[in-house]
Amino acid sequence: MSLSFFKHWLRGPATVGAVAPSSRCLADAMADGVEAFEAIVEVGAGTGVVTDSLVRRHPSARLIVFELGDQLAAELRGRFPHAHVIGGAFHKNIAVLQDLPAKTIIVSGLPFRSLSSGVVEPTVAAFADLLYADRARRLVQFTYQPRVPFAAPVGLRWCRIKTVWLNAPPASIWYLSSKANWRGGDSSHPGGSPLILQHDMAQRVRSNR
Ligand SMILES: C[S@@+](CC[C@H](N)C(=O)[O-])C[C@H]1O[C@@H](n2cnc3c(N)ncnc32)[C@H](O)[C@@H]1O
Repeated sequence: MSLSFFKHWLRGPATVGAVAPSSRCLADAMADGVEAFEAIVEVGAGTGVVTDSLVRRHPSARLIVFELGDQLAAELRGRFPHAHVIGGAFHKNIAVLQDLPAKTIIVSGLPFRSLSSGVVEPTVAAFADLLYADRARRLVQFTYQPRVPFAAPVGLRWCRIKTVWLNAPPASIWYLSSKANWRGGDSSHPGGSPLILQHDMAQRVRSNR
């Protein structure tokens, strides 16, 4: 674990919400959901484990990164010079997200279950506005608990994609996207979404290779 992560955790364990950065396995699984998007908005980047997977797997995508901790944000800037890194709370800095392409994806490591409602509410509202702007958009989020990360805003629906066991603790990956992408099915099962089905099939093809 990096010293910066530990110092940041000491200052505010609830805003970090984890005892260690994500594993490479979880980071790669988060980045798997990003295919065919032109811009990536990463929120809660921490030490940059997920950022690194995003950059390696999607080098041509425009990358905007938000991290609450100023020291961590400064380190991310040094490590990922092509990314636009914003230090501070996401919901207070959304003005920078003015000219995003339709094909934009949000990748979040925010610990929604331990953040205060004063942060969760405006953050979820901002995520919803970004997703409402185009039905092909998606939020990729991980959780340590078998519950949805937060209640789905009107018109949006959660789908649990997979559990990554090689992480401490094991984590589930969820997608939040427009209900218009669904043709029936249960929200906890990917069977109803053409987008999720495509992703699921691509994953199976890869793992059978
Ligand atoms: C669980 S850690 C995840 C870090 C990294 N994505 C990973 O997977 O290892 C959550 C991160 O979100 C950041 N964070 C918490 N609240 C935030 C907010 N409102 N805006 C931006 N970042 C925030 C914390 O500082 C912390 O680095």
